[in-house]
Amino acid sequence: MLSKSNILILFFIIFFSSCANNNEEELYSDCKTDNISYSIHIKPYVDNSCLSCHNSNLSSGGVDYSTFEGLKKSIDDGSFLGSIKHLSSYSAMPPSSPMTDDCKISQIQAWIDQGAENN
Ligand code: HEC
Repeated sequence: MLSKSNILILFFIIFFSSCANNNEEELYSDCKTDNISYSIHIKPYVDNSCLSCHNSNLSSGGVDYSTFEGLKKSIDDGSFLGSIKHLSSYSAMPPSSPMTDDCKISQIQAWIDQGAENN
């Protein structure tokens, strides 16, 4: 026979284990935003998502991301973040592709807040 206290214990076990499996914070904590490095977190993204149209041969819209300086210019005038966040005064980038995921945008924002260094 299950005593009342056993039922209570069972209830707590089920309650807390379901909680642990369903933890939204756990999902978000996978997105690292401290000590963001240009070479590890930013450059691979720019190379994959932007470089095909923004390089020294094809600098669409006058934007060339083949060098750090070229990228920095677009960071400083706000067009980089504006375009990937699809802000209304910028052309949405990358064009006709899904919007950049929230984690990458947070990392880019964090890197800019940390001084957008060539690190
Ligand atoms: C398939 C080609 C293509 C890709 C990939 C692409 N762009 Fe563009 N981009 C363009 C073209 C074409 C223009 C110029 C016409 C326009 O503004 O829409 C442009 C313009 C821009 C501009 C200037 C527009 C403004 O509103 O100031 C920025 C900034 C920009 N792109 C950033 C990016 C970033 C960041 C990425 C990567 C996340 C990216 N682009 C990926 C084609 C591309």
